[in-house]
Amino acid sequence: YSYANTGKERTLAIIKPDGLLDNYTDKIKNVIVEAGFIIFKEITLELDKDGVSSFYAEHSSKSFFHSLIKYMTSGPVLVMILEKENAIADWRALIGPTDARKAKITHPHSIRAICGVDSERNCVHGSDSPQSAQREISFFFLEKSAGKILPYD
Ligand code: PPS
Repeated sequence: YSYANTGKERTLAIIKPDGLLDNYTDKIKNVIVEAGFIIFKEITLELDKDGVSSFYAEHSSKSFFHSLIKYMTSGPVLVMILEKENAIADWRALIGPTDARKAKITHPHSIRAICGVDSERNCVHGSDSPQSAQREISFFFLEKSAGKILPYD
């Protein structure tokens, strides 16, 4: 979200369990830095069921919800605040479409095309609007003490 008067924006990025498991972290971070983002903050966490259910609350009525929660609690994730001008839209463009199978065809250079598998195991998350970015950044970096998430290391 926009902050201070720097003309820059911050967005929330997550490298999901498969991304960490398969050691895509360095590759993804290189793409992030080469695209002009600054990694303002980062933390590796193991999400718990309640925390991730609340994070994805807007999808709670979807058929895939329980599967998504199970996946997102299957291993550690790397959560980052990324900063640059137009960070929210630019990060969404860089990660590509939700379904990694489609990304491989339509956006072959996107991050999801490189390390994703399908709509669930799509390797990375990005906030979809300034409102989401603000909520999601606060969720991880201001509400930690509420017991929603557990430090991993
Ligand atoms: S929707 O239906 O348009 O709102 O979905 P979308 O915004 O594309 O995706 C929202 C998040 O749900 C995940 N997702 C899924 N998980 C498991 N199974 C299926 N079929 C599925 N479809 C979508 C998707 O990865 C999105 O996660 P984030 O972390 O927000 O990218």
